[in-house]
Amino acid sequence: MPAIDTITSAAADDDYRSSHVASGDTYDARLADSPFDNYMAAWEQRLLPGLIRRFYPDGIDRYLDFACGTGRITQQIAPLAKHSTAVDISPGMLEQARAKCPDTRFLVADLTQDSIDIGQFDLASAFRFFGNAQDELREGALGAIVRRLAPGGHLLINSHRNPRAFYAVFEKMTGGTAMAGMDLTLPKLRGLLERHGLEIVALRPIGAWMYRTRIMLTTQPDAPRALRNEALFSSPLFGPIAPDALIVARKR
Ligand SMILES: C[S@@+](CC[C@H](N)C(=O)[O-])C[C@H]1O[C@@H](n2cnc3c(N)ncnc32)[C@H](O)[C@@H]1O
Repeated sequence: MPAIDTITSAAADDDYRSSHVASGDTYDARLADSPFDNYMAAWEQRLLPGLIRRFYPDGIDRYLDFACGTGRITQQIAPLAKHSTAVDISPGMLEQARAKCPDTRFLVADLTQDSIDIGQFDLASAFRFFGNAQDELREGALGAIVRRLAPGGHLLINSHRNPRAFYAVFEKMTGGTAMAGMDLTLPKLRGLLERHGLEIVALRPIGAWMYRTRIMLTTQPDAPRALRNEALFSSPLFGPIAPDALIVARKR
């Protein structure tokens, strides 16, 4: 069976910080080559503008993309913001991002360890990060982000490695290992956010109807079946069993 999410499996040395130090040249192509990642990325892209308009109808003032990688999400959100900053620990990933977002300020930094002053933000995002990072890094990253969020500001993330997704449970029951290392359930993520003073105010599941790995690996994002089922399974109630979800959390 083809691997799912081959790019973002936990780093071999257990610290996710070093996972993408040498991935800058290959990340985008590998993401596009994985049917599952490609599907989720396409649906995230489709849903993001509406979700952002809901919270920022007049546009975003100050936007931060944490762990921006090659700028996949930065390039979608930065045009909706007056000022945008993107941070990543990997110079190679940032080099790719810079080329896509000429008006964004890019910084190579680990905000969990550097106390640099980069300002305050109204919206921060972190994609394909929390599901992959180890607990210590999840806590450190949330602390670092929340400190830089203005009161009432929002964090927008995805959660793409849910071990309780239907397909993952099916896989486990049939002896599959595709979900090895996945531990970020929705209740665990909610607890993590709440400990850092963040309250989930929007949740949009993606792919909740895909109960078998085979379906995930063969469905095109714009197939009629996908369009129909994504509408049917769009309620936040499907969040706990969805393989991916867009989540907005507000700083109290
Ligand atoms: C899977 S990539 C996601 C990139 C991008 N957000 C996306 O959705 O395509 C995860 C990124 O997290 C970065 N990263 C890991 N630890 C970090 C840290 N402590 N501070 C900033 N970036 C970090 C890695 O270098 C990598 O670029």
